[in-house]
Amino acid sequence: MSFSIERYKEESKKVDTAGVAWDEVTSHGLSNGDLFCLHYMMDIENHVPLYLSHLLVTRACMDPILTAFLACWNYEELWHGENLGRFLNLYGIEFDTQERIANVRANLGVQNSVSLMSTMAGSWLLKDFSSVYLSIGAINELSTLTGYAALIRKSGHPVLKDLLSRIIKDERRHYAFYFNSAKEWLTDNKKAQRVDRWMLDRVWVPVGQGVKTQEEVDALALYLFDDAEGEADLALIDEKIGKLPGLSGIKLLSKSLAAARERVRLNPRWAWRLIDNEEWAVKAPRKSPIGQLTTRRQPSDIAVTTRQESEVA
Ligand SMILES: [Fe+2]
Ligand SMILES: [Fe+2]
Repeated sequence: MSFSIERYKEESKKVDTAGVAWDEVTSHGLSNGDLFCLHYMMDIENHVPLYLSHLLVTRACMDPILTAFLACWNYEELWHGENLGRFLNLYGIEFDTQERIANVRANLGVQNSVSLMSTMAGSWLLKDFSSVYLSIGAINELSTLTGYAALIRKSGHPVLKDLLSRIIKDERRHYAFYFNSAKEWLTDNKKAQRVDRWMLDRVWVPVGQGVKTQEEVDALALYLFDDAEGEADLALIDEKIGKLPGLSGIKLLSKSLAAARERVRLNPRWAWRLIDNEEWAVKAPRKSPIGQLTTRRQPSDIAVTTRQESEVA
C-alpha cells in the first residue's frame, strides 16, 4: 500500500458525485438501522473540522507533510458530510445542516475542551505521541470505510451504494496515509511502540465516541457488525492494524463488539431501542442558541440594531 503526498496534493478534490442517481433516492426503502447509521456517519464526518483543531495543537503538526495532508483531508471529509446530508434530505428527512452541526457542537460541553488540552499537553510532553495519533488515524479511517461497506451490504440501496463507494475511495487514501506514516514512525523505534500500545489499549475509542454516547456507538456497531460477516470485518481491521510494528495481536475492534454485546446481554433493550424509536434527531442545547455560539446574528437582531442606529442618527 503506497502513498505519495505530492500526488495526493495534486489529486485531492471533493468527492465526485456526477452521475449519482439523486432522483432515485426515494425509489428504494431504508430501514431504521440504515437511517440511524447514516445520521451517525454524517454527524461524524461533519465533526472533522473540530477534530482537526485537536490535531493542530500537537507537536506532530510541526511536520509540513502532515499539515499538507490534513489540509486536503479536512476538505474531502467536509464533502462526505455534505453528501450524506443531501442524501438524507432527498430521502425526505428534514433538517437544516448548519443548525444540526451547530447543535452537535454545542452539546459537546466541557469534555471537548479538556480533551483538546490533554492532547496538546500529551503531544508536547511525549515525543512519541505522534505514533499514537497516526495509529488512531489509521484505525479510524479503516473502521470508517469498513462501516460504509457494511452499510452498503445491510441497506441494499443502489444509490447509497454508489455514493458510499465513491466516499470509500477517499477513505482508502486517508487510511494509506495514516498507516504508512504510523509504520514509518514505529519502525525500529521500541519506545514509540511501547507508548503506542500502552495508549491504544487505554485511550482508543470507536470512531465517533465522545460526540456520540456509548449507547449510540453500540447501536451502530451492533446494527452493522453483529453477525458472522460483520465479526469477520472487524477481525480483519484488527489483523491489518496488528501489522504495525509493536501492535501484533491487538484486538481493539473485536473487543469493542464483544463489550457492546455484553451490554445488550445485561439489558436487551440497550442500543436497539435507539434504532426502534428513531432516535437520530439532535436536540438543541438548553442554554446555547446558535446565534450566540457562532456570533452570527439572527435577522431579528440585525433589524433591532438598524432601528437603533437610525434613531440615534
Ligand atoms: Fe469521510
Ligand atoms: Fe477519512
